Amino acid sequence: MRKFVFDCDTGTDDAIAIAAAFGSDDIEILGITSVNGNVREEFVSVNNLNLCEYLGAAVPVCHGAVWPLSCGFRNKSDMTHGKTGLGSIVLPDAEKLKFDERIASRFLYEKAMECSGELELLVTGPMTNIALAIIQYPDFSEKIRHLWFMGGSVWGGNVTTTAEFNIWADPEAAHIVLSSGIPMTMVGLDVTLKAIMEPEDMEELRKENTPARRLTADLLDFMFDRYRRGGENVIMHDALAVAAAVCPECMEYQDYWMDAETRGEYTRGHTYADFRGRSGKQPNVHAALSVNVEMFRHWLVRSIENCDRKFG
Ligand code: RIB
Ligand code: CA
Repeated sequence: MRKFVFDCDTGTDDAIAIAAAFGSDDIEILGITSVNGNVREEFVSVNNLNLCEYLGAAVPVCHGAVWPLSCGFRNKSDMTHGKTGLGSIVLPDAEKLKFDERIASRFLYEKAMECSGELELLVTGPMTNIALAIIQYPDFSEKIRHLWFMGGSVWGGNVTTTAEFNIWADPEAAHIVLSSGIPMTMVGLDVTLKAIMEPEDMEELRKENTPARRLTADLLDFMFDRYRRGGENVIMHDALAVAAAVCPECMEYQDYWMDAETRGEYTRGHTYADFRGRSGKQPNVHAALSVNVEMFRHWLVRSIENCDRKFG
């Protein structure tokens, strides 16, 4: 079994991605770490704790960074993820699970040491916790087998014309992670903007009333309604990062040297790629450039159903 820690800013699409990761047969989620992003960390961490208990997955859930490294950004709630981060969905408060006492960066380091170089990371929010682990523990990076992240883009942004949210929210952290030498795969807007679910996917999930199916269908319902009200489409940004790790045939990739811009007036938060080798630097990112959407949608629905079989 491949061993993962899932670092996220749950978030409607993060929650679906977590359920899909729990539903993947060949990976074990060792813990979930929370970071300020879609909503403030105090909502993100409670969402993660409540979500794990709701799904029946008793894994460690840790608090994490409440500010980005630059201390410049803490989200206000908005229509994309709603006040608490799960849209209109209210999960029951966890009664059995309690927060792990370790902060995210400490937990990440301890798991990396325990797994002796086999630990993989799924990162679907701003990279603050990962950057802190790199900063605080000099031998952390060399112990990470692979980092799979939703973030950035080779072309265009969704917060500014050039910056994607997860990188924009903490570009200094992204720069530290991209410069760390950790082998990594970027699942950016180039592919995630195409990863759109259809009403029949929601209907398929509603055929059985089990926790992961019910929650995912309810989140999709919230997203369809959000789209009808002029908001973001039913886009599975974060679940596509999980697919990259466990269903690599869903996408096609290109290797680039990439870094995150931290200073530009128009480009802060942009992940820029060296397309023609002009930097003289070796590629550090395996970037997803195209996606088989039908294959992804089928994989996601099957993974959510399998989550209930494993934990329900
Ligand atoms: O830009 C999309 C990303 O920002 C996703 O991870 C979503 O959850 C938000 O965090
Ligand atoms: Ca996210």
